[in-house]
Amino acid sequence: MNPYAIILAGGHGLRAGTDTPKQFLRLNGKMVIQYSLEAFKEALPGCKIILVASALHRHYWEPLLQNTPGFADVQVTDSGTERFFSVRNGLVKIPGNVLVGIHDAARPLISVDLIRTTYRLAADHGCCIPAITPADSIRLLTEKTSLPLPRNTIRLVQTPQVFLSSELKTAYQAPYNDLFTDDAAVWENAGLSVFLCEGRKHNFKITTPDDIPLAGWLLSSNGSPKG
Ligand code: C5P
Repeated sequence: MNPYAIILAGGHGLRAGTDTPKQFLRLNGKMVIQYSLEAFKEALPGCKIILVASALHRHYWEPLLQNTPGFADVQVTDSGTERFFSVRNGLVKIPGNVLVGIHDAARPLISVDLIRTTYRLAADHGCCIPAITPADSIRLLTEKTSLPLPRNTIRLVQTPQVFLSSELKTAYQAPYNDLFTDDAAVWENAGLSVFLCEGRKHNFKITTPDDIPLAGWLLSSNGSPKG
């Protein structure tokens, strides 16, 4: 069975401080979402891609899908008010018994290698979640002060997060919870276990204005997000 991917582009990106949502900004001549679409196409030929995006942003995504060679078969479905609801909308288009990866379009430095690794490991373990160990020291905020935490017990979680679709669709029937900022949290809430793999330092999510020139610089020095 061909794998599936849900590329999430339904956010409004207010933290990035731009009028254009971050996933539709242009970086080195390409729209941010184009990097993820191209990486999935290259990593998994035959992968069926669902782009989750708002109809309010149609003027960004429609010309890209119509005018870019290879993008005509990307299906689009409407986004929701929270990431959780956008994923739930995307999952309606996914059959049971396939692998489905969920990826934030705001991570244009996703590599072909990490996509292939997460799908391969999810086939063995039921899911695969890329995560990295923080380089900085970590402190936990308490009411009055803050306390050091052992850094090697913490992971920073990335996407793509890849799952068996039947189980993920069931997990997403849960009522919304503020802790559901990624798919691993929803999966675990359904009593399923999470399998982590090593993420990539460069696979960060464009979030604040500083991230935009950094992503542009890394994309130009990499040439393309292959490594
Ligand atoms: O808001 P956050 O940075 O966590 O968003 C992660 C990804 O989820 C982004 O690619 C964003 O476009 C997407 N998203 C979405 N629907 C929402 C909120 C975010 O598809 N309602």
